[in-house]
Amino acid sequence: MNQKLKEDSIKIYKGHVIFTESPERFNTVENGFIIVENNIVKKVVSKIPDEYKNISVKDFGNRIIIPGFVDLHLHAPQFPNAGLGLDKELLPWLEEYTFPEEAKYKDTGYAKKVYSRVVEELWKNGTTRAVIFASVHKEATALLFDLLVKAGLGAYVGKVNMDRNCPDIIIEDTQQSLKDTREYLETHVNKSEHVKPIITPRFVPTCSAGILEELGKMANEFDVPIQSHLSENMGEVEWVKELHPEHGNYADVYDCYSLFGQKPTIMAHCIYNTEEEVILMRNNEVYAAHCPYSNLNLSSGIMPVRHFLDKGVNVGLGSDISGGHKMSIPSVMAIAAQISKIKWLETNKELAPLTTSEVFYLGTKGGGKFFGKVGSFEEGYEFDALVIDDSSFLGDNLTLEERLQRFIYLGDDRNIVERYVAGNRIEKPSF
Ligand code: GUN
Ligand code: FE
Repeated sequence: MNQKLKEDSIKIYKGHVIFTESPERFNTVENGFIIVENNIVKKVVSKIPDEYKNISVKDFGNRIIIPGFVDLHLHAPQFPNAGLGLDKELLPWLEEYTFPEEAKYKDTGYAKKVYSRVVEELWKNGTTRAVIFASVHKEATALLFDLLVKAGLGAYVGKVNMDRNCPDIIIEDTQQSLKDTREYLETHVNKSEHVKPIITPRFVPTCSAGILEELGKMANEFDVPIQSHLSENMGEVEWVKELHPEHGNYADVYDCYSLFGQKPTIMAHCIYNTEEEVILMRNNEVYAAHCPYSNLNLSSGIMPVRHFLDKGVNVGLGSDISGGHKMSIPSVMAIAAQISKIKWLETNKELAPLTTSEVFYLGTKGGGKFFGKVGSFEEGYEFDALVIDDSSFLGDNLTLEERLQRFIYLGDDRNIVERYVAGNRIEKPSF
């Protein structure tokens, strides 16, 4: 490559750089430089090496540069329901609020209106990558996919499958559901570099064994990942036992149909997992999406995140809109830390509370791993970044870790002044 072309592919960003290579501690470089080549992080340094001296530097001054946020679990069609029906538990909430709202996405005009807002909100909150449940409707799902591509965000988007135990307005015929899923996969699997389809059986109670079996085969055939829900609520867990007495546990139902790590898999919630299920998740490298707002709102319980981390299970954070009412991942980080303290007390101080670096890790690199090298500024990582302006807060002489902690607890989208996904600066979407 000639010198000019090479130099054009290099970008240097200057600011106070903070990220988590590992959960235990922050990596910080005050007044640091992030060198990005071909959209990939080359290095983070405190002095620019000679070989880069001809490259201009984008200087963010006293601002903080952090990795973009990763939301491992949200339901786009539930966005209009955020903040509604949260005095119910999971199963009545699904019947009374969620299914009726999701049924509306048969209308692509309605879907376009809501999904444009959802994508704008993701952008606004600094969520650079998200793993999303759409609804059962393939046209609306495709529409959401295209809006995410247009916005320049990174995502997995699933057409939901559900063929039993749900109301007529939303239940699918098994064969039609499989046909629609196949069409969606065929037309989207190679459509975009950063937005991809994902197999999405809603959860065991609403999916027949027949549909689960075929979806497992399709994940293999198209080489696509899988997402679902696992052991969120006590009533749900009991129901799965009644529906599938032939299976040793809830996870085993997914596992026996090749929907549990045979391809990369995310299971949301995982509050009531047995030890066997935790070990199976670790062995099959299944990700747990921890969704603390949702778990509090729907009286589901508190996931023992510390136990999952100790056992070596991959964990990321999810907003779980609209079981969760807030899309902001820093808010999810804060509440994850807070409820882990209650878990600590509840377990006679056995499961230690999550630290700030741990919750930050979960909301960046922990979930980012599902996308590959995402969520950190180590060499070889895609440059997903946010520039944070915290000048509106009071308090001087803080360390960089303290400034980041304050942003996590007090900040919001007004503090996010720039967003990058895979090296590209992403502007506010306009559809
Ligand atoms: N389990 C099955 N469907 C859902 C859903 O939409 N939200 C949550 N939180 N749990 C579920
Ligand atoms: Fe969910």
